[in-house]
Amino acid sequence: MAAKRKKTDDESIEAIDLITLLTPPSAAGCYEVEIQRPLPGEEFDLLKAAADLPDVPEPAQLRSLPAASTSRKPSATLHQLPASDKPSPQQSEQDIENLLTGMRKPRKPTRLQPLPDIADDSLTRIADEIAQCQKCDLCKTRNKTVPGAGPDSARLVFIGEAPGGDEDATGIPFVGRAGQHLDKILAAAGFKREEVFICNILKCRPPENRDPTLSEMICCTPYLQRQLRLLKPALIACLGNVAVKFVIGPESPGITRIHGQWFNSIFDIPTMAMYHPSFLLRSQGREKGSPNWQMWQDIQALKQRYDSL
Ligand code: URA
Repeated sequence: MAAKRKKTDDESIEAIDLITLLTPPSAAGCYEVEIQRPLPGEEFDLLKAAADLPDVPEPAQLRSLPAASTSRKPSATLHQLPASDKPSPQQSEQDIENLLTGMRKPRKPTRLQPLPDIADDSLTRIADEIAQCQKCDLCKTRNKTVPGAGPDSARLVFIGEAPGGDEDATGIPFVGRAGQHLDKILAAAGFKREEVFICNILKCRPPENRDPTLSEMICCTPYLQRQLRLLKPALIACLGNVAVKFVIGPESPGITRIHGQWFNSIFDIPTMAMYHPSFLLRSQGREKGSPNWQMWQDIQALKQRYDSL
């Protein structure tokens, strides 16, 4: 395998400037996440970033590229584009301006399809339906379903990934070791557990606490969607990488990079990405910069926004 060539300073600066270009000028209303800068040594793939921006009129510059270069999986990264893929000096300034204007457009977050109306829907009715649910194979191995817990007046919803063993035994979310750690974090920040709604993307425990599969999450999402439609929370806190990737989008950077940041999410509700309490239990340290310390900053920021509602 060819050794990776170290980028010159000029090339690194070029990559950063292009990301600035791709960053919408205003986050107001529809775009609550910062564009992530590449880590040192990381390639930034301009074509992929451009392809990910919906509603961008296809610019002449990209249209004229060979098919392979415009596919969603471009083989070339910014610094490896063949000479023929680069704008020619003759390219009109208008073409380039069109491309940049398109790229500067704020990204519309992916949203879920709206659910059909359900007359007299209620949290209890949803919980009853979950208890009967056989939409996926988890119904064969679960003991109790775990719909979620909290008042229907909750303004903040915590979403984890799936029940574990203690939750499967009791039907109550976040009651095991991770849940007890979450309780301590909530109390330290001044939240009462009884004032927030706590639930998971999956309402049944995956065997051996394995990660939920995408199809299980898709099967289960309408229940969460209905719960959120009734609760109408002002804020969501999404716990852990699996939940974050689902709620914010599969292309969201990992939790260590985006915890503490706000997103619109597939539910179109301001959502903070947060560490999962079981990850925090595995990270013993409390020193500045440690995951527990970071969580402390994040939960305080969440509380501050919650108090300002
Ligand atoms: N982990 C989760 O994601 N949810 C729970 O309810 C318990 C542990």
